[in-house]
Amino acid sequence: MKEESKQPPSPSSFLPPRATHRLLKYAMLCIAVTYILYTLMLILLSIPKSATIAISSRPKPTSLTHIVFGIASSAKLWGKRKSYVKLWWRPGLLRGVVWLDRPVAISKREVSSMPSIRISGNTSRFRYTNKRGRRSAIRISRIVAETFRLGLSDVRWFVMGDDDTVFLPENLLAVLSRLDHREFYYIGSQSESHLQNIFFSHGMAYGGGGFAISYPLAAALSKMQDRCIQRYPELYGSDDRIQACMAELGVQVTHHSGFHQYDIHGNLFGLLAAHPVAPLVSLHHLDVVTPVFPNETRAAGLRRLFDGPVRLDSSATMQQSICYDREKMWTISVSWGFAVQIVSGILSPREMEKPLRTFLNWHRKADYTGYAFNTRPVARTPCLRPFVFYLQLARIDAKKTNRTVTHYGPRRLLDGGGSNGDCNWTDKAPTMIEKVVVSKPIQSSMWKGGLNRTPRRSCCRVQKSQRKTTMRIDVGICGEDEIIGI
Ligand SMILES: *[C@@H]1O[C@H](CO)[C@@H](O)[C@H](O)[C@H]1NC(C)=O
Ligand SMILES: *[C@@H]1O[C@H](CO)[C@@H](O)[C@H](O)[C@H]1NC(C)=O
Ligand SMILES: *[C@@H]1O[C@H](CO)[C@@H](O)[C@H](O)[C@H]1NC(C)=O
Ligand SMILES: *[C@@H]1O[C@H](CO)[C@@H](O)[C@H](O)[C@H]1NC(C)=O
Repeated sequence: MKEESKQPPSPSSFLPPRATHRLLKYAMLCIAVTYILYTLMLILLSIPKSATIAISSRPKPTSLTHIVFGIASSAKLWGKRKSYVKLWWRPGLLRGVVWLDRPVAISKREVSSMPSIRISGNTSRFRYTNKRGRRSAIRISRIVAETFRLGLSDVRWFVMGDDDTVFLPENLLAVLSRLDHREFYYIGSQSESHLQNIFFSHGMAYGGGGFAISYPLAAALSKMQDRCIQRYPELYGSDDRIQACMAELGVQVTHHSGFHQYDIHGNLFGLLAAHPVAPLVSLHHLDVVTPVFPNETRAAGLRRLFDGPVRLDSSATMQQSICYDREKMWTISVSWGFAVQIVSGILSPREMEKPLRTFLNWHRKADYTGYAFNTRPVARTPCLRPFVFYLQLARIDAKKTNRTVTHYGPRRLLDGGGSNGDCNWTDKAPTMIEKVVVSKPIQSSMWKGGLNRTPRRSCCRVQKSQRKTTMRIDVGICGEDEIIGI
């Protein structure tokens, strides 16, 4: 512009060489700008509409710091139950409050290493008329709202759990980060016991298994819950009171099979060894069932699980893979980080993915009609029962492969209850195997988007082993055309 103003005015009919030059420059500039704009438009048009919207309005991905836990406990039980919370709590990373009915003494160390402790508001003004339950249910049902009213910043989800619920925080995050926290979400799971779902509701998120409520829904609940509770004095527990208020808000539960209420008695083995293809989010009622690993206390068993597999590869913990030894005609099932089963003979994947009934339902019946899912019986004859190898150790092969290496053993025959005699094992039976070694890549993105995204189980393959007494197995994403069969 400056240059132009210096130029003497020139008649329009006559263009001196310099002016022609300038005109050419402008024309080229015009063409270049048009070209760039056109290309930009083409690029934008080629991106699908949903993606363009996402670029402009999607918030940052949800992280653990966006989640606030509300843990239900009582002064009477906290001393004993805090060992469960200690197992999974990550000081400095997770936010949460343990709600008690009255104050307890806490050591200085606990103040920094555990969720903060608060006393619930007085609930004596609320009516409670259920003859079989306890009125503490009212206090516990108000935990989400009371946690909301603390006014913590940058919260997307409120997660409610009991003091005997253990969470796998990364897996919980994997579930929640796939949902839009700006919507009304109430997510959890049903009871394992069919009658419980009939007595309470199929539409209720069972409190012990834990459930999550998105921020705007917690806000709405906090506004209306105290009036809502007064309309249901006859209900039994805290979770049915929550559900009653959810129904008044018009919100239905989103079921997720990774939350586990575990309304069962006996041995959890069958359920843990055939976990659905979903991240393991929580475990509950661990005081009620037998220890996770036999021959070990409850606490020691859980520590083995959390210090080993959960720390190395939370996503893959308890994920089941099924494969076969074609030559020996064995069926093999790996529940990663927990146990390996070897069955003499071929059982189809559709059988193997059904939990073995090693447990009783909440009403202490072994009847298969008692569950809200399919199960299969433990064979009466020992010859048809699996050999089970429980987790011994878990590590990462940091030097060579960066894969997880887990060892399982010694061999045990699954207990069928009662004595049904011995099996006269043929030499084809896996009675020589003493130890199973499983190699698996770290699958931390298993539940995230992208190619690795699995609602598909991983494949396992029996490898050559130099020792007859050791079975080596490789677990990983199934290859193209790879199926689970012989
Ligand atoms: C709760 O409130 C009731 C009645 O308002 C009162 O009698 C009771 O002492 C209160 N309880 C506590 C623990 O403050
Ligand atoms: C289980 O514990 C008992 C008693 O401590 C012991 O005799 C037995 O060998 C143990 N079994 C296994 C498989 O570790
Ligand atoms: C294993 O992973 C770590 C961290 O991602 C990396 O620094 C290291 O080089 C890897 N080692 C091998 C043998 O691939
Ligand atoms: C076990 O099987 C072998 C070979 O099949 C047979 O010789 C033996 O008599 C059987 N033993 C019993 C106790 O059934």
